[in-house]
Amino acid sequence: MGQIKTIGVLTSGGDAPGMNAAIRAVVRSAISHGKNVKGIKRGYTGLIKNDIMDMDARSVSDIIQRGGTVLQTARCEEMFTEEGLKRAADVVKENGIDGLVVIGGDGSYRGALALSSLGVNVVGIPGTIDLDIPCTNYTIGFDTAVNTALSAIDKVRDTSTSHQRCSIIEVMGRNAGYLALWCGLASGAEDVLLPENYDYDEQTLVDHIIANRKRGKKHHIIINAEGIGHSVDMAQRIEAATGLETRATILGHMQRGGSPTCKDRVAATTMGCYAVDVLCQGKKNRIIAETKGEVVDYDINEALEMTKEIPEYQVAICKELAI
Ligand code: F6P
Repeated sequence: MGQIKTIGVLTSGGDAPGMNAAIRAVVRSAISHGKNVKGIKRGYTGLIKNDIMDMDARSVSDIIQRGGTVLQTARCEEMFTEEGLKRAADVVKENGIDGLVVIGGDGSYRGALALSSLGVNVVGIPGTIDLDIPCTNYTIGFDTAVNTALSAIDKVRDTSTSHQRCSIIEVMGRNAGYLALWCGLASGAEDVLLPENYDYDEQTLVDHIIANRKRGKKHHIIINAEGIGHSVDMAQRIEAATGLETRATILGHMQRGGSPTCKDRVAATTMGCYAVDVLCQGKKNRIIAETKGEVVDYDINEALEMTKEIPEYQVAICKELAI
C-alpha cells in the first residue's frame, strides 16, 4: 500500500464551534507528517466546483478560538445525485487527494460513504451541535452550543421569575433532542419537549404548569426542541388554558456561533490529529469517534449502521426534579 501524499479537508452541513480548531489540527498535523494539504471550500458544493486551495501552517493561524468555519460550509443536494457524486470523486482524483477528511454530521458521512464506494479514501470527524452521531459519545460543537443556550435560558429565567410567567424556550435540534435535554437538565427546566417524543400531550403539560403553580413555583420553563417547534402558537394555547402569562423565545442560529469552549477545542484538536494519524497508518474509510473517553476509529460502514437512543434515565430525572 503506497504512502499517502496529499490530504484534503472540508467542513460540511451545519457549522459547529470547534470546526476551525479541527481544520487547524488536520492541516498542521498533516504538514508535520510531511504531507501536502488542500482545503476545500463550502463542503461538497466547493468540491464539485473544484473550489480548492493549497494550505500551509500559516493558513490556519489565529483560528483555533474562532467560531464558524474558515473553509465555509454548505448542505449539498448535488451530492445525492449520481452525476454530482461522480464529479466530486473525479475532482478528488484530479487534485491528487489520497485522503479526504470530512468534518461534519451524519448527513456529511452519508456523502463520504458514497464517495468511498467510488474509490475515494475518506475519514470523518464528528462536527455538529446536535450530538446525534450514533457511533460517538461526543461531537465537536455540542459543548459550546449547549453552554450558549444555557446562558440565554438563565437570562430568560430571571425575567420569567420576576413576572411569574411560563416561558417556552426553543433550542435547536430538528431530529435530535440532546441539546434540549442537556439544557433542560442544566437549567432545571420544568418541562423538556424532545423530537424523539413528538407525540407529547399538551394537556399533561397544562396540568403540570397548574400543579406547579399551586406548589408555589414562580416560573415554569419549558425547553422545546426545534423538531417540535411552533413555540409561539404553543405559548398562546398554554396562556389560554392556564390563565398564566406565557412567552416564547426562539434561540435559533445564535446557538451555532461563538468561540468554542475548551472542551470543544481539545476534542477538535485531538480528533483532527487522530484523523491524520489514521490516514498515515494506511487505514481507509474510517470515522473518528469518542467512546468511553477515548478517541477511536471505526470502519465507515460499521459506524453508519450504529444507533443510539436519547438517554431515558436523564429524561426521567428531568421530570422527577421538576416539582
Ligand atoms: O447543525 C445542526 C442544526 O443546527 C440542527 O440543530 C438544526 O435543525 C439545523 O442544523 C438547522 O439547519 P439550517 O442552518 O440549515 O437552518
